[in-house]
Amino acid sequence: MLAGKRVLLIIGGGIAAFKSLDLIRRLRERGATVVPVLTRAAEQFVTPLSASALAAEKVYRDLFDLTDEAEMGHIELSRDADLLVVAPATADLMAKMAGGHANDLASTVLMATDKRVLIAPAMNLRMWQNPATQRNLSALRGDGVLVVGPNEGDMACGEYGPGRMAEPLEIVAAVEAALMDGPLKGKHVLVTSGPTHEPIDPVRYIANRSSGAQGTAIARALAGLGAQVTFVTGPASVPPPEGVAVIAVQTAQQMLEAVQSALPADAAIFAAAVADWRMAEGAVQKIKKEVGKLPTLRFTENPDILATVSQMQAGRPGLVIGFAAETENVIEHATAKRARKGCDWIVANDVSPETGIMGGDENAVTVIGAEGAEAWPRMGKDEVARKLAARVAEALGDG
Ligand code: CTP
Repeated sequence: MLAGKRVLLIIGGGIAAFKSLDLIRRLRERGATVVPVLTRAAEQFVTPLSASALAAEKVYRDLFDLTDEAEMGHIELSRDADLLVVAPATADLMAKMAGGHANDLASTVLMATDKRVLIAPAMNLRMWQNPATQRNLSALRGDGVLVVGPNEGDMACGEYGPGRMAEPLEIVAAVEAALMDGPLKGKHVLVTSGPTHEPIDPVRYIANRSSGAQGTAIARALAGLGAQVTFVTGPASVPPPEGVAVIAVQTAQQMLEAVQSALPADAAIFAAAVADWRMAEGAVQKIKKEVGKLPTLRFTENPDILATVSQMQAGRPGLVIGFAAETENVIEHATAKRARKGCDWIVANDVSPETGIMGGDENAVTVIGAEGAEAWPRMGKDEVARKLAARVAEALGDG
């Protein structure tokens, strides 16, 4: 149900705009208030009058409409909503959003908002597959924009493929999921994930086998409980979750900078497998093979991101959680690690090759806090993530 929720519906200029009229009805049936914003191009497909009549609300169209600004300015318009929905999100609107343009009312409210944004792309399949659109799509995903569709099927232009706007009821389901009030609503949680790559020279690097699966699952579970998640990820082999703000990095130093720029946070979870060392002097040119000579790699220590954040004098997140990947004496080593780093909880796991945990779908963890160690049975990484997110919600709720 969407009772009491206010949705700002931005209708873009595409043939699918007619479906947005039905979307207004479906959202209202569930109790939502729908305030439509029409782009100039949208008016070629649907009339402001039909949008207004179905929404039983004023329709907003122009950035410089003095009457509208006197009644409700564009900033207020975007802040007053619980969610912004762009349907249909045309290739042009997506490009504007990704590029940060603000040259009409729709793009300006999208830039000015402090609320989540859900887009329902709709366009010709070649336009959808165009590298520019795909680049914009991943930039928007990285900004935490939620995406529903497009679907595959016959298109108005006579072609067949992906590009049809999601059906109104599918968009309604995505709206409901986005507006679900969870226990972490209003909380900002930072998650690091994946391996780091430390360059040896321009073509070689030092890496590790972390897939990023556990960190990704944790970020997804936190977002599912309503948290605003910043996801700082090294080059992981699994894609980042939807609906979180992604900061992609390569090295440990970049990860530290990204973490620091994302603070403050209510909680921070450090699931990344950060390389402990980097090259003391990274070679600017590719190291050449010389007959009979072996190169010597000289290392220097990377900053410890978890320890740095745990030991912050001011602005430390209320809850800091680290991971410990051990191959022996798991609890003993992890307990010592918790004390050494100064974090609140350590999630310890045994990554001996025979466990199949690193790179696998399951995890068996022991959570170590001030009160001692609690061993969780072996379960899917998604389940570990959900259980941990629930614990975070409990801890933040108490605070
Ligand atoms: N960590 C970090 N920055 C580093 C190294 C590690 O933030 N430069 C974090 C990891 O994200 C993880 C925890 O610290 O939460 C792991 O600690 P680490 O000292 O790397 O231990 P392990 O890799 O588990 O093992 P070891 O101590 O044996 O190296």
